[in-house]
Amino acid sequence: MRLDLVIRNGTVVTASDEFEADVGVAEGRIVAVARDLAKGDQEIDATGLLVMPGGVDAHCHVEEPEYMGARLADDFVAATRGAACGGTTTIMPFANQLPGKSLREVVEDYHGRAQGKALIDYAFHLILSQVSAPLIGQELPALIADGYRSFKVFMTYPGYMLEDAQILEVMDAARRGGALTMVHAENGHCVHWLGQRLEARGETGLGAFAESAPPAVEREATHRAIALAEITGAKVMIVHVSSGQALEQIRWGQDRGIPVLAETCPQYLLGLGPHLHEPGWEAAKHVCSPPPRGSDDAAELWRGLQQGAFQLVSSDHCPYRFAGTDGKRSQGGERPHFRKVPPGLPGLETRLPLLYHEGVAQGRLTRQQFVAVTATNPARVYGLYPRKGSLMPGADADIALWSQGERRILRHADLHDDCDYTPYEGRELSAWPVVTFSRGEKVWDRGWVSNAAGRGRHVGNRSPS
Ligand code: URP
Ligand code: ZN
Ligand code: ZN
Ligand code: ZN
Repeated sequence: MRLDLVIRNGTVVTASDEFEADVGVAEGRIVAVARDLAKGDQEIDATGLLVMPGGVDAHCHVEEPEYMGARLADDFVAATRGAACGGTTTIMPFANQLPGKSLREVVEDYHGRAQGKALIDYAFHLILSQVSAPLIGQELPALIADGYRSFKVFMTYPGYMLEDAQILEVMDAARRGGALTMVHAENGHCVHWLGQRLEARGETGLGAFAESAPPAVEREATHRAIALAEITGAKVMIVHVSSGQALEQIRWGQDRGIPVLAETCPQYLLGLGPHLHEPGWEAAKHVCSPPPRGSDDAAELWRGLQQGAFQLVSSDHCPYRFAGTDGKRSQGGERPHFRKVPPGLPGLETRLPLLYHEGVAQGRLTRQQFVAVTATNPARVYGLYPRKGSLMPGADADIALWSQGERRILRHADLHDDCDYTPYEGRELSAWPVVTFSRGEKVWDRGWVSNAAGRGRHVGNRSPS
């Protein structure tokens, strides 16, 4: 067989194995993983490098509507460029339901945003914020039939928060169609009440942000989401879990056989909480929902990852610029106010190297676990496997080559998004992706990044419209 590309002599790492082999690629797909493959048209020497499936980032926000008057920094060009430079080859952002538009229009509009701009492949989830009888009865089933099989609902955030009866309707419709309901589990009523109380006391600094949404708020909502899943029989994914208390509820549900999946993110595993108490505006670089916690919660989350309570580690990339005119989180001279900073952190490009350093290099995760939670499981959970998240013959040749052992300091100046900071500035990394292939095409190579925006494709069962 004629091979377009052979990646030779690397250490192949999958969710189950690790071995020395060559990887042969033809027409954008992996066709062989074996020793001593025949010469390819293009040869890459991967001696000393790890050869892993490209990452699948199943939770990121790209080109969504403004929130709290702030616009996301990254469009599809910047988000997919950053992702590729960080070893990720598939992203799953959210098409966000808008008042006055049908879900179908929302999805078509979102396809229009990605098309012609994405560098790597993508699939979509939908955010549901307006629940009506036609939505549940017709719109949702029609989209599920077309292959859109994951829907996020919020238990908090003004304008997004759904009441339990609405969530039950969504979960029930999702279950009927075999779709997955993703839940942002924080009790919005409690967040509102706590926030007002803090304001009345004059405690409005960013340190108060974490107090407005303590672990009890997340624990209660997590338990309720699991109860709603039990009642409807729906499969749920608790997204961006931040606390040990929420994790306890997830284990509680999983132990009882309730179909509960869970995701956490680097910002929680790294325990960024103390940064919310940094002076002045600096703390705004760490505001996200749920709030980052401290090292005790982080230690619990690592245990949850090791034991399999979490299936996924996603970035929840949601970049708002620190300075600048639109979407800025530091509002110049005024004192920061915990209710006025839009929540969300950039993280598409840093997700994998941070997790590798903190997880694998520190002995907390095996390389197999790393590949599972960052590539294979997300592909499985969201129906993209084995085309994505795997190095099996037949899979798309989405491959990252990793160097390990060399130290590097993380600097925003070296990243490729359109944000203007990273919350991880100055952290040390001991491994990172040096080359990334998307369907057999090189998109990142040691500082060089492809400018072929638009080559990325939608993956999924989008029916012709
Ligand atoms: O703070 C966060 N996580 N912003 C992104 C929106 C969400 O809730 O995922
Ligand atoms: Zn959320
Ligand atoms: Zn900081
Ligand atoms: Zn999110």
